Amino acid sequence: VELTALPGGDAVAADQVLYNLSRRGVEWDLLPWCREAGVAVMAYSPIEQGRLLRAKGLDAVARALGATPAQVALAWVLAQGAAAIPRSGSPEHIRELRGAVDLHLPPEALDALDQAFAPPRGPTPLEML
Ligand SMILES: NC(=O)c1ccc[n+]([C@@H]2O[C@H](COP(=O)([O-])OP(=O)(O)OC[C@H]3O[C@@H](n4cnc5c(N)ncnc54)[C@H](OP(=O)(O)O)[C@@H]3O)[C@@H](O)[C@H]2O)c1
Repeated sequence: VELTALPGGDAVAADQVLYNLSRRGVEWDLLPWCREAGVAVMAYSPIEQGRLLRAKGLDAVARALGATPAQVALAWVLAQGAAAIPRSGSPEHIRELRGAVDLHLPPEALDALDQAFAPPRGPTPLEML
């Protein structure tokens, strides 16, 4: 499918896709296309429904920054220029997630995350949950 032929045309305000550290396929062509077209990207399941929090490589970055794995995972999505829609039924978790907005990820943290969660090396079918 040609991205330029997607239905919706000028009426498309945002593209909501599965996007988190463990699901980076959209970075290959969809995200650049959205950026070019002025379409906002909204990341659903930004912490992979909680599974990402146990992933290797996230904890070390979080500890180095004095943050939690959930905050780092969410701050990373925001640092990519995407909006994120985490879900939680726990006030404590929501407060924790809110902390991601104020968390700056320095270049060394971004590098460490790239090492642990590799960006795509080619076109990748859109993943869904
Ligand atoms: N467009 C689509 O096709 C699509 C598909 C899937 C989802 N979505 C939307 O995306 C939103 C979020 O997606 P999602 O619910 O699939 O995944 P998510 O936000 O990545 O993960 C939600 C899970 O993470 C847990 N959690 C949240 N904060 C946490 C924290 N600080 N520490 C530990 N666990 C934490 C929650 O449990 P607690 O409640 O215990 O905190 C919940 O089980 C939803 O509003 C959903 O409607 C859209």
